[in-house]
Amino acid sequence: MAAAGVPTARSFTCTTAEEVAAALDELGAPYVVKDDALAAGKGVVVTNDRAEAVDHAAACGRVVIEEFLDGPEVSLFAVCDGRTAYPLQPAQDFKRIFDGGLGPNTGGMGSYSPLTWAPADLADVVMEQVVQPTLDEMVRRGAPFVGCLYVGLALTDAGPRVIEFNCRFGDPDIQPVLAMLTSPLGTLLHAAAQGRIDEVPAPVFADGAAVTVVLASAGYPESSSKGDVIRGVGNANGVNDVDVIHAGTAIIAAPEPGDPDHRHLVTAGGRVLAVRAVGYDVADARARAYAAADLITFDGLQRRTDIAAEPLGVVEGASVKDS
Ligand SMILES: Nc1ncnc2c1ncn2[C@@H]1O[C@H](COP(=O)(O)OP(=O)(O)O)[C@@H](O)[C@H]1O
Ligand SMILES: [Mg+2]
Repeated sequence: MAAAGVPTARSFTCTTAEEVAAALDELGAPYVVKDDALAAGKGVVVTNDRAEAVDHAAACGRVVIEEFLDGPEVSLFAVCDGRTAYPLQPAQDFKRIFDGGLGPNTGGMGSYSPLTWAPADLADVVMEQVVQPTLDEMVRRGAPFVGCLYVGLALTDAGPRVIEFNCRFGDPDIQPVLAMLTSPLGTLLHAAAQGRIDEVPAPVFADGAAVTVVLASAGYPESSSKGDVIRGVGNANGVNDVDVIHAGTAIIAAPEPGDPDHRHLVTAGGRVLAVRAVGYDVADARARAYAAADLITFDGLQRRTDIAAEPLGVVEGASVKDS
């Protein structure tokens, strides 16, 4: 990002306790400490507690200590063909396990799109300031990027700042986005893969909104529960513009007297199902998603009740009140 001139947090990469202390002093609280390694979603600590920041840094080895970015967090997906890209519609993802942004970070407990409160030119600004400069820098390095660039941003008072890149679509954020996409995804991806995205029209999105509510199993996110029998998916799916998307599910044999082929749908992971609904606006889509989610049961089911109830006005994942 530095080489490409992409706006992001000021940061220091540290390997010793002295470097960590100096970086924490320089940037001040809230402290953002990132393990410079794959950490299964547990690598980032955001805290006002200096001792907690120091302890996390010590446990990691090489860390990146960043300036705290203050502002709503949004996701923008750009489909890239190596030279240029098309943005999809921005989305927001609710990352904490409990209502109100409390509890530990998860892979995402729900999402919605579009962001009616965000600036109308958000996607254009991110394309100009982030995506295109990044693609140009990758070309310059002889490693053109073809695929989905997932840009996680904080909308700060000073403008959008990149929190992270992922090189993939990401659930649940992408689910409401794809629900609203009316132009063919396959055509877009094919053109991107062949380096000729400029030959296909820009993606088109329907009016209205979509909301996804995640149903997680007992113990998530610290652990997960397998084998809990799931009921009601058949009733929820397909009703009222709802899709039930499977993530951590399995089908097991459960023979019964007179029905030797009987089977059960069971939990098989942390995030089990995503219930996604399309509606006239966010409130309508939200009502449909929750009405369908109410039809699904399994032991230990966890879900948030406040997905898309209001926009995430603060960086929920970075909320320091509960970390
Ligand atoms: N510089 C930062 N300022 C504020 N919050 C941050 C910052 N970096 C990360 N976060 C918060 O921590 C969360 C996880 O960080 P991220 O870089 O996305 O790591 P991961 O690879 O675990 O997803 C982000 O979604 C965001 O809420
Ligand atoms: Mg992230």
